[in-house]
Amino acid sequence: MEELIRGWDGERVVMRYDHEADAWMIIAIHSTRLGPAVGGTRMKVYDAPRDGLRDVQRLAAGMTYKWAGVDFPLGGGKGVIALSRPVEGVARERLLERYGELVESLRGGFYTGADLGVGPESMEVIGRKTSRARGLTAGDPGPWTALGVFVSMEAVAQELFGRPELKGRTVLVQGVGDAGLPLCKLLRGVAADLRIADIDAARARAVAEELGAVLVDPGEVYDEPCDIFAPCAVGAVLNVETIPRLHCRAVVGSANNQLEVSEDAERLQERGILYAPDFICNAGGAIFLTAVEMLEMSEDAAAERVRAIRGTLEELLHEAKQRRESPARAADRRVQRVLERGSA
Ligand code: PHE
Repeated sequence: MEELIRGWDGERVVMRYDHEADAWMIIAIHSTRLGPAVGGTRMKVYDAPRDGLRDVQRLAAGMTYKWAGVDFPLGGGKGVIALSRPVEGVARERLLERYGELVESLRGGFYTGADLGVGPESMEVIGRKTSRARGLTAGDPGPWTALGVFVSMEAVAQELFGRPELKGRTVLVQGVGDAGLPLCKLLRGVAADLRIADIDAARARAVAEELGAVLVDPGEVYDEPCDIFAPCAVGAVLNVETIPRLHCRAVVGSANNQLEVSEDAERLQERGILYAPDFICNAGGAIFLTAVEMLEMSEDAAAERVRAIRGTLEELLHEAKQRRESPARAADRRVQRVLERGSA
């Protein structure tokens, strides 16, 4: 862990070992260059605390990119509660409260919202102990994240097929959770040809039945032919092993850190697969929540900012095409520009 912290390019890492739950609470502040650090909190079982630390560092950097990429005056941070085993019921509630105390102890150095394993109800629990919990009035970020991904898919369809409509396009959604499920509903609403996969087999079956989607085995998701592959679960799913297997024209999803390493963007480019940078198209939830709860925008104006992801992505796709580079490179350049200027 020492090695990971020393080698990190972020500002600080705050850790607290929780005896009662045998869990590590880790808050990583990557950059406050543009404003106070804001990011979700993730709670899951990790093989080792070190894996949780690595995850939170990558996710915090991803938030810096997300805010800069969409021109929001906020900084990158993230929280991870790294469990050694599942924690449920009252023990889970107590753990979230203690995490809330840790957030509060930073005195405004970090604001947090929902992420994988920490739903809107969990935010209420965290919010008992800190005034820095977000998502308590603007609600669930999931459907807004889904909307941002949906308009990103339309931009990608325009680029690939010459028209934005997703009707009849085969879209494969990996993970039908808080962002994946509302995305499936939007896609269903425009009569896309929907395929879904989830490691929770019962959940996958229920959603497939409800939406009339084709069920794909989680082990075969990378081999499944489709127009658009939408990773909406964990990160690092695009890597040296999976990219050669993909049978899609584009990747557009809500998961954070979809590329295992940055070179994976070139691997996708070489295979002729259009990759929509994750931190641009998945910013909808973060945009909506903070616009309403931190930047004093109306809900209508916030929703408009979510839909504006489409124009941002179009610009990036255009720039990437002109320079014959991957959209991920174009997005990185945009982020560097914003960070250098010091304001969004
Ligand atoms: N955790 C989500 C994300 O990664 C959404 C979120 C971000 C919610 C920041 C609140 C604050 O974008």
